[in-house]
Amino acid sequence: MGQPVNIGVVGCGVIFAQYRKTIERLPELRLLAVADLDLERAREAVGPDADVEVLSVAELMADPRVDVVLNLTIPAAHAEIASRAIAAGKDVYCEKPLAATTADAARVLREAAAAGVRVGCAPDTVLGTGTQTARKAIDDGLIGRPVAATATMLTPGHERWHPNPDFYYAPGGGPLLDMGPYYITSLVTLLGPVTTVIGAGTRTRPKRTIGSGPRRGEEIPVTVDTYVTGVLVHASGALSTLVMGFEGAATKAPNIEVHGERGSLVVPDPNHFDGSVLLARAGGQGWETMPATAGHAEAGRGVGLLDFATSPSDQEPRAGGTLGYHVLDVMESLLSSAQSRSAVTVASTCERPEPVALLPAE
Ligand SMILES: NC(=O)c1ccc[n+]([C@@H]2O[C@H](COP(=O)([O-])OP(=O)(O)OC[C@H]3O[C@@H](n4cnc5c(N)ncnc54)[C@H](O)[C@@H]3O)[C@@H](O)[C@H]2O)c1
Repeated sequence: MGQPVNIGVVGCGVIFAQYRKTIERLPELRLLAVADLDLERAREAVGPDADVEVLSVAELMADPRVDVVLNLTIPAAHAEIASRAIAAGKDVYCEKPLAATTADAARVLREAAAAGVRVGCAPDTVLGTGTQTARKAIDDGLIGRPVAATATMLTPGHERWHPNPDFYYAPGGGPLLDMGPYYITSLVTLLGPVTTVIGAGTRTRPKRTIGSGPRRGEEIPVTVDTYVTGVLVHASGALSTLVMGFEGAATKAPNIEVHGERGSLVVPDPNHFDGSVLLARAGGQGWETMPATAGHAEAGRGVGLLDFATSPSDQEPRAGGTLGYHVLDVMESLLSSAQSRSAVTVASTCERPEPVALLPAE
């Protein structure tokens, strides 16, 4: 094996620790440096004894040793940080969504193409055994031609546990832009790209109260819909019904179900890498639990970065910018359909990402 790919992280908040754990156990990747607007937060996140440099954002971008910028900032900053990485000639892998708007995301992809660098985008949870086993079941014909899917995410809202939840209630956030990427990326992985959407949305209270951390009790404004629902029409003809809400105390609805002409599948939580896939064959004896047959076993956040950093440069990575853009476009189209109260054609498309063979834990 050659030299590891040097990763420079921008944004050392809540999700940084999960990426760090994955990067540190993968010999192909090396966590070289971190940066944050708040340098003290970056120092604290790294800890006193770590062999990781803490730099300013400008220093990290200018550092010739950094091969890939891992963009773990808040959604409103994704495009700005991606553009700075691209301008520095570096590949950039962004947390989801790719940007707060498709206009920003399109600019990032144009800049990357002009600079000859690559853009990757989370989520990579769909590369785990959960979604990948379901995909293999569909590709192997176990449910026949897929006809429809349902996808449901309902929670009371992230302000209960996140110490700085402002971004979840600002443009670029909300249940759709925050959690939709997991569900829509999974639906595109399973059923292919989306051509048309019909959406509706609503919100309740204009403020939310932070429930944890030093700002506990502080009220933050809500400027986005906190319950969004809709139908996605896939190019294949399959229909997915989506429910994304920060307005439910709890739900017993499955995260994702896919129904085909010859059977139905329960697909595990697309925000997790693993979980059991259930299969019911038409005319069969109820649900069977499938063994894991595809995907990264025991994976963590960062396997998409591994795929991105190690795949050939002429190949679209599985967690790629084109897919990230299409998923954002589907979400934005849903919101504009909700506003206009009419169906909206999704302008972009993408290939179904390459499947992942069953890979043992690293
Ligand atoms: N928290 C989660 O459970 C979770 C899970 C999966 C994905 N994500 C995604 O990860 C990203 C980060 O989420 P988080 O929960 O870690 O957020 P966070 O608010 O905890 O951390 C974000 C960090 O980015 C820094 N930052 C913001 N703008 C910056 C800029 N312009 N330059 C440099 N640093 C900047 C902030 O100072 C902060 O330290 C988001 O896109 C989110 O959707 C979060």
